[in-house]
Amino acid sequence: MKHAADLFRSVADRVRPPVCIALGPPWAVASIAKRIARPDTVCYQMDLHQAGRVRECLDEQGATAEVGAKPDLWDIDQRFGTVVFPAAAYGDRELKIDTVEQAYHVLEPGGVLLSLSEYERDNQFAKWHKKVFGKCGESPAGPNGMAFWSTKTDDVPDRRRHEVKYHAKLSDGAPREFVSRPGTFSYGRFDNGSRAMIEVADVRPGDAVLDLGCGAGSVGCLMADKAGPTGRVTFIDSNLRAVQLAEMNAAANGVTNAKFVVATRLQGLETDRFDVILANPPYYAKAEIARLFVEGARDLLKRGGRYYIVTKMPEAVVPMIFDTFGDCSVIENRGYSLVMAGV
Ligand SMILES: C[S@@+](CC[C@H](N)C(=O)[O-])C[C@H]1O[C@@H](n2cnc3c(N)ncnc32)[C@H](O)[C@@H]1O
Repeated sequence: MKHAADLFRSVADRVRPPVCIALGPPWAVASIAKRIARPDTVCYQMDLHQAGRVRECLDEQGATAEVGAKPDLWDIDQRFGTVVFPAAAYGDRELKIDTVEQAYHVLEPGGVLLSLSEYERDNQFAKWHKKVFGKCGESPAGPNGMAFWSTKTDDVPDRRRHEVKYHAKLSDGAPREFVSRPGTFSYGRFDNGSRAMIEVADVRPGDAVLDLGCGAGSVGCLMADKAGPTGRVTFIDSNLRAVQLAEMNAAANGVTNAKFVVATRLQGLETDRFDVILANPPYYAKAEIARLFVEGARDLLKRGGRYYIVTKMPEAVVPMIFDTFGDCSVIENRGYSLVMAGV
């Protein structure tokens, strides 16, 4: 969001403190916090990595604000005079709808939601605001994007939860139901890359399994069936909403021997611990997370353990695996490459 600060400036007279900046790209969040210039501003994120980036950008821009990460915006106990939602054009539509809904519940009566859309001509936000707040004002279309504002005139406590259930199963297993929520990977469906991985992975009774980058936890829950009652599954993700879903989905599917970790650098995992590690990393930011999921995983694997990573970019991943594990093999499944290695 290159022009978030300029767009915000055009509507800044509508803001009254305390302010919550909900989600948004870290640089844009920091430039808005700088403009607000109040230490009681709260920047909300649901991913620990993004929260860390917001802190870095605040420092770089010399702005002060508190940064917090929770699964849901409405988990914040404080009530705000204004919620500013800087929504990037490429952002997830369902998450935008969900954020408008959740913002209502953290506003004090009379509080204002200000959504900043990067689109020059946005015809969606007004509709979403009106559904929750009844009315919506908007700025003229322009090169900095468009601003939308609504005032909370009532105080309806009922929370409309946006979530979608989907089903997935092992070829010979019973179908399992999973809940997914906006802002987490593969909303509303089981990812084909993960499906390709679980079809190939060799998981045995009693195995300790790591679902690395677990999202809503489907991979770990399905693998728990193979690991059986003497096995155990650890779920890890940097996104708090994802780990909360993994916990819910594990409980709903009877996966009891489970551990849940929220971390950005694989903190909290024991070395030499896992018989099987299953990784489906995001491949953005020059495959930086993919590298973490390869290099960081090696020491976590027990001797004789099996490591699997799914990718559509084997040319980038295979050299990393060779450097880290010394050897690997590749299986093609469903248009994905499954790279396998061991220690
Ligand atoms: C491609 S998704 C796979 C999700 C899940 N396994 C599935 O099949 O739906 C990658 C996951 O990695 C998580 N992630 C990104 N960076 C991370 C990090 N530094 N540490 C842990 N998880 C991370 C993302 O939040 C996302 O849930």
